[in-house]
Amino acid sequence: MKFGFIGAGVVAQTIARHVLLFGHEVLLSNSRGPQTLAAVVDKLGQGAAAGTPQQAADQDVVVLSVAWADVPEALASVPDWSGRTLIDATNRIERNNPRDLGDISGRTSSEIVADQAPGAKVVKAFNTVPMAWIDDPSPNRLKTVLFISGDDAVVKQALGEVLEQVGFAAVDLGSLAIGGRLQQVGGPLAALNLTLVDRFVL
Ligand SMILES: NC(=O)c1ccc[n+]([C@@H]2O[C@H](COP(=O)([O-])OP(=O)(O)OC[C@H]3O[C@@H](n4cnc5c(N)ncnc54)[C@H](OP(=O)(O)O)[C@@H]3O)[C@@H](O)[C@H]2O)c1
Repeated sequence: MKFGFIGAGVVAQTIARHVLLFGHEVLLSNSRGPQTLAAVVDKLGQGAAAGTPQQAADQDVVVLSVAWADVPEALASVPDWSGRTLIDATNRIERNNPRDLGDISGRTSSEIVADQAPGAKVVKAFNTVPMAWIDDPSPNRLKTVLFISGDDAVVKQALGEVLEQVGFAAVDLGSLAIGGRLQQVGGPLAALNLTLVDRFVL
């Protein structure tokens, strides 16, 4: 699978290291241009490239990995979101002051993201764990639980399979409205360091 990233910082680079190990490809982008990411892609190695946000959005899936304050500008840099799979890894917290901005709109943070990417199939994922918890991409590590929420069952299924393949335990919480609320900042499943020991399939 080809992963695009809008935002090329800690989240993008951590996820990239995990998926690259299993033969997937990544294209990272930021607001300053691909030339500023040469050292980053060099360090990530084979299968990694830099590009523009539009090029990131043209990959099989695109991960939104910018600070909450930068979400509107980042999403606006892609004029047409229709049909794209958008993984929202953001948390709705203030820059430099990790404080929950609250539920003032009555909508979950990923619904707010979806509003700004009309037509995209949005899945919330990766937001519940500090990247330091999943720093180790080696295949023999314990399986960290990653929650996913979204309104498109097919897209969630595909993402869940990739997450399992690269060594996580994916748990589908339901829609962006219900699951998204459980896993967003302030929700009961945010910032829980959970490891899958066993899974009994009913
Ligand atoms: N760090 C964690 O452990 C963690 C865990 C879960 C979720 N999150 C959430 O994930 C998001 C990203 O966190 P992070 O730690 O990866 O942040 P980060 O290291 O600060 O990276 C943010 C990236 O966004 C880029 N960016 C800023 N404005 C942009 C724009 N308009 N278009 C494209 N790229 C833009 C920045 O590059 P330029 O400034 O050069 O453009 C930078 O590469 C945040 O919402 C955070 O709350 C973080």
